[in-house]
Amino acid sequence: MPNAVITGTGFYVPEKVVTNEALKEYYDTSHEWIVERSGIEQRYFASLGVGPSDLALPASQAALNEAGISAQDLDLIIFATLSPECWFPGSGCFLHRLLGLDTTPALDIRMQCSGFIYGLSIAEQYIKTGKYKHILVVGAEVQSTSIDFSNEGRTVGVLFGDGAGAVVVSASEENRGIRSTHLHTQGEHIEKLWVPEPSSRKSPKVSPDLKGLYPIMNGREVFKHAVQRMKEGILEAMQAEGWSPEEVNLFITHQANLRISMAVAEWLEQPIDRFYNNIQRYGNTTAASIPICLAEAWRTEKIKKGDKIILAAFGSGFTWASAALIW
Ligand code: COA
Repeated sequence: MPNAVITGTGFYVPEKVVTNEALKEYYDTSHEWIVERSGIEQRYFASLGVGPSDLALPASQAALNEAGISAQDLDLIIFATLSPECWFPGSGCFLHRLLGLDTTPALDIRMQCSGFIYGLSIAEQYIKTGKYKHILVVGAEVQSTSIDFSNEGRTVGVLFGDGAGAVVVSASEENRGIRSTHLHTQGEHIEKLWVPEPSSRKSPKVSPDLKGLYPIMNGREVFKHAVQRMKEGILEAMQAEGWSPEEVNLFITHQANLRISMAVAEWLEQPIDRFYNNIQRYGNTTAASIPICLAEAWRTEKIKKGDKIILAAFGSGFTWASAALIW
């Protein structure tokens, strides 16, 4: 059975930096409140007209370059996003066209903040069964067009940012790569974090006041579940591999809130610097957050060849997922 190894990483964020101070134009808020509650100091917003596939293109090109392959060598694209260009088709088809591909399959998935690990898990199966050799897994979001910029939206609006991350997963005989992935969903909590429209239960799909297009979140409940489920995910991945927390070189948790990562680190009795965090600079980029972390940690030598890495994510659905990797 071949191993599924990440052979290339890449990330891209749009040029426009939006500081906490800049959000005061829309919200009754402060830099101090946002930093204290979430750790976020700034995020990036895409220009109008830019979709997640546009952000995914440079991230994917960087991942392909690092892997030493061209887009034509890909056997599959897996694209995770909750903010697609349109109702259908998915962003994977848009990226497919931007990459100049002919008939390579593109598979769109959602799964929100857990989307990248779900995508990684799909790639792992296709590689380990021998069906495919090179798969591009992308997480990309343009969330700035789904933010409620009226003061009513301030609790959610300060958290999110735009960006893209991508990895190439390749079949390899080397004894490393994705060791295991662990996926969970609990639909009973859908309404605690969701965007209810556009909805095919309605005609027209959007209510006249357009409020249904904005995220609705019960922040406290989400926080509580996120900490608990990410703990469980990390434990599940470590147990599957027989790794102790001390043996793991780096933990990468979905960047939802710095306080969530800190609570998970404290429970594991590990110093916070063993967790890679960049939410301070990017905000919550949903499906893009883990591949951005991976690409950045690799480029800044926080990850080295042979390192043991645990990934864990939690998001709307509720969904959660974890993975154990040897880099
Ligand atoms: N600026 C200033 N004040 C704000 C604010 C903002 N942007 N948003 C809310 N507030 C106010 C509230 O109105 C409330 O005021 P009150 O006490 O006078 O009623 C107060 O701040 C506390 O609000 P609350 O919502 O209870 O804050 P919190 O401590 O729960 O923090 C979150 C809010 C969103 C930061 C936190 O709940 C969280 O991070 N939840 C998880 C979010 C998440 O991870 N989502 C993605 C999942 S993948």
